[in-house]
Amino acid sequence: MGLSSDVIERLPHVEGILNYLVPMADKPMNLAYDPPPGVARSNGIPEPHRVTIYDARPVAGRLSLDGEGLAVVEHRSTVEDFYDEDELRRVYYPEAERLVAEVTGASRVLVFDHTIRRRVMGGVDRAPGTPRQPVTSVHNDYTVKSGPQRVRDLMGEEADELLRHRFEIVNVWRPIRGPLRDAPLAVCDATSVAFTDFVASDLVYRDRTGETYRVKYNPAHRWFYVPEMRVDEAILIKCYDSAQDRARFTAHSAFEDPTTPKDVLPRESIELRTLVFHAA
Ligand code: OGA
Ligand code: FE
Repeated sequence: MGLSSDVIERLPHVEGILNYLVPMADKPMNLAYDPPPGVARSNGIPEPHRVTIYDARPVAGRLSLDGEGLAVVEHRSTVEDFYDEDELRRVYYPEAERLVAEVTGASRVLVFDHTIRRRVMGGVDRAPGTPRQPVTSVHNDYTVKSGPQRVRDLMGEEADELLRHRFEIVNVWRPIRGPLRDAPLAVCDATSVAFTDFVASDLVYRDRTGETYRVKYNPAHRWFYVPEMRVDEAILIKCYDSAQDRARFTAHSAFEDPTTPKDVLPRESIELRTLVFHAA
């Protein structure tokens, strides 16, 4: 099922380098904070691969969260300043909750987190004094274990009852300033990924350990992006689904578009993470 290869292969595309994970014996681990001197931040070794990344716009109407694990939607926010935390919570969170409820048909949607990324040339992600940077390795934010764990951590006494029904974690990603040319987001068609391509990886914070998926290379992977993405567009990404008969996890990563001129404005983006609860 899904989109046929001859449709995809006629789409405009670019070639980009994506960093997969070299298969390893130990469980991969990343520190979410600046390690003390002499301590490695990660034990994983990146395996760069050149892949074809297709323009998703011409097929946007045919991509779905449950099918390919992503949706590309037009959505105009009324937020004036995405750097105003107060306005984000007051205006953007409810707008995004309504959007995700509409797209998924869920009975309840809760934004639980946001990340603003602003590229600084030479900047290191999660380094003190530097804004969060585009993510340069292929990953999915949650695993079979950490998806439900997030519900337990955030929903208190309601968690048990909520976990008896279908729930999802869906990210809402958009440029803060467009058109976005620097470090766009590539998202992998979930129907082209085998479950065995995902490798559970510890994400170690000072006070807790989360689990994400890193991804092993598989030539079957089919990648999409939205060229020159506008602020009135959003990509929705399925990062977890308790239902097992549809897209459950969706690999994604930033990449350098080789056709982008050198002097474009650095990437500024915002992503929200949402818990999506279904009544059934
Ligand atoms: C995400 C994500 C990476 C980026 O939204 O979950 O991984 O570079 N974003 O924006
Ligand atoms: Fe992510």
